Amino acid sequence: MSEKIYLYPVWTRIWHWINAVLFIALIITGVSLQYSDPDSPLIPFEPSVTWHNIAGIALVINYIFFVVGNIVTWNGKYYKLSSKGLLKRLTQQAQYYLFGVFKGEKPPFPENENRKFNPLQKVAYIAVMYVATPLVILSGIALLFPEMIIHKVFGISGTLLTAILHMTMGFFLSIFILIHLYFSTFGAKVSSHFKSMINGYHETH
Ligand code: HEM
Repeated sequence: MSEKIYLYPVWTRIWHWINAVLFIALIITGVSLQYSDPDSPLIPFEPSVTWHNIAGIALVINYIFFVVGNIVTWNGKYYKLSSKGLLKRLTQQAQYYLFGVFKGEKPPFPENENRKFNPLQKVAYIAVMYVATPLVILSGIALLFPEMIIHKVFGISGTLLTAILHMTMGFFLSIFILIHLYFSTFGAKVSSHFKSMINGYHETH
């Protein structure tokens, strides 16, 4: 019988859904700035710039909320990674996602009070929250204040390199969201993880 464990405190849920809305707004306006034909844009250029900047600044504030929240509450412990046996744990989880889940096997690292994330989830969340998001934020701030950027790096424009870093991280994070949505359906029921992020309770398998 499935039981419920309280794993998602209210502040993480508020942070998460604000973050999700802002990311989607940033992706839509970012793609519009990047690819649209100036004569028939997806969203006209000027409003895209304005909304991209507003959503970006809001994301920075929300990101600070996440980092401080993880420092001052117990949620931060779920983001600590031990390298001991990591490869083996990652392989076990990947095998479950590739085969076990389709055979109705039990997950090798079920969630509990001490382990909210399985090894693959943990590595992905650390990469997204502590590497890619800071990089997209720092490069975004630099592009907002281009006078901060080093003029040339080995003869290549510093602004161009910053823009490439910003776009690459934006692309990586967009792909993450798609994968994240897919794996969010792997709960006890397809809807279980989505419900957890609304009511805070994780439903066990
Ligand atoms: C439409 C957008 C999104 C949906 C539907 C969604 C869905 C979910 C769900 C169902 C969970 C709980 C299950 C789990 O822990 O995996 C979750 C947690 C999480 N999501 Fe998302 N997500 C979205 C966007 C994002 C974005 C844009 C990011 C980061 C860039 C993100 C990062 C996270 C993190 C770090 C957690 C764990 C939070 C914690 O408990 O500490 N999500 N998401």
